[in-house]
Parts: sequence; structure tokens; C-alpha cells
Amino acid sequence: MSNNRRCLLQAALGTGIGMLLPPCARAQTADPRNARPQEGDRLVYADGDDKGKPVKPEALPLGGPPVTAMPQEAASGTVRDGSRLNQILVMRLDPTRLQGETTERSAQGVVAYSAVCTHSGCDSFAWAADKQSLKCPCHDSEFDPADGAKVIGGPAPRRLPGLPIKIVDGQIVVAGAFTGRVGGTTN
Ligand code: FES
Repeated sequence: MSNNRRCLLQAALGTGIGMLLPPCARAQTADPRNARPQEGDRLVYADGDDKGKPVKPEALPLGGPPVTAMPQEAASGTVRDGSRLNQILVMRLDPTRLQGETTERSAQGVVAYSAVCTHSGCDSFAWAADKQSLKCPCHDSEFDPADGAKVIGGPAPRRLPGLPIKIVDGQIVVAGAFTGRVGGTTN
């Protein structure tokens, strides 16, 4: 029986024999594809012709726009694409523009943030080149990636969680966990 079918059966059985089966939630958490980015993960392209290939700092245009990446477990090569909440916006900005803790979480001007809006969870951002800001087209929330992705417009209740990164052997590597809960107010 597949994991999914076992999970459905467990849900249907409720508190009966289902209690004897391994908890699905625990099984899904243990799946590295669903785990949030871990220290040491590489960032790889989430889509496009380079999907699955490492994002190299020099390939990111200075001053944006961002690319969408996914974390990849270094040891196994598993891309953590089991959850859309693992999507990451990564971009290269002028290091002199970075503010406060953003500098500490960055490397060579490269910054990374959750690609899921903190308002209602949309995950398709536009880049406003004139303001160097990330704009969510769903309800026009706007975030400043040079200053911790703080909200500079629209209804989003909080900034985009940052993802600390470092550069190792020319690759962008996760240096710590997201700085806050990823996702919108309803997920
Ligand atoms: S979901 Fe992004 S502004 Fe509403």
C-alpha cells in the first residue's frame, strides 16, 4: 500500500485501528522533500531550463530580479520540493544597500526570502525594478528585500521570512532556518 493510501485509510479509521498505524503527519515530516530548508542545503533553480541546477551568485543580475529556488539536501541530492512553502526568492543586491540583520544573513549581496506572501499565501512575485521591491500581484503587498523584506505597502501583516545563506565553493548554501513562519495567514 502506498503512503498516501495508508494515510487515507488511517484518516478514515479515525481513532480505531488507525491509532496503531504510524502517524502520517510524522511520516510526512520525515520525508526530506517536505522538510523546511536545512543548514547545508544548496539552492537550486525551482523551474525553467536550469531546474534542479545550483544557483550561482554570478548568474544573478545585480539589482534583481530574483529567481525562484528550492533547497536541495547536499548529501542525497534530494530537492525539497514536496511543499510549496519551500520556495525561495534569491537575488543579488548592492551590498551597501543592505540594512541591519539583512547584511548578516547575506553573502556577497545575495539575499534569500520565502517566496510565499505573508498575506494570503500567493507565491508569484513581481519585481518592481524602479523601487527594487518585491510585489505580490494578488493584493499588491510590497516588500523591501534590502531591509529584511519588511512590508512597504499593501495588506501583508508581516515581512517575508528571511533565509540565512552563505557561499561555499561558488554555490549558495543555506546557513540557518527561516527567520519566521512561512506562509500566509491561512496556511
Ligand atoms: S496574497 Fe500577497 S498581497 Fe495578498
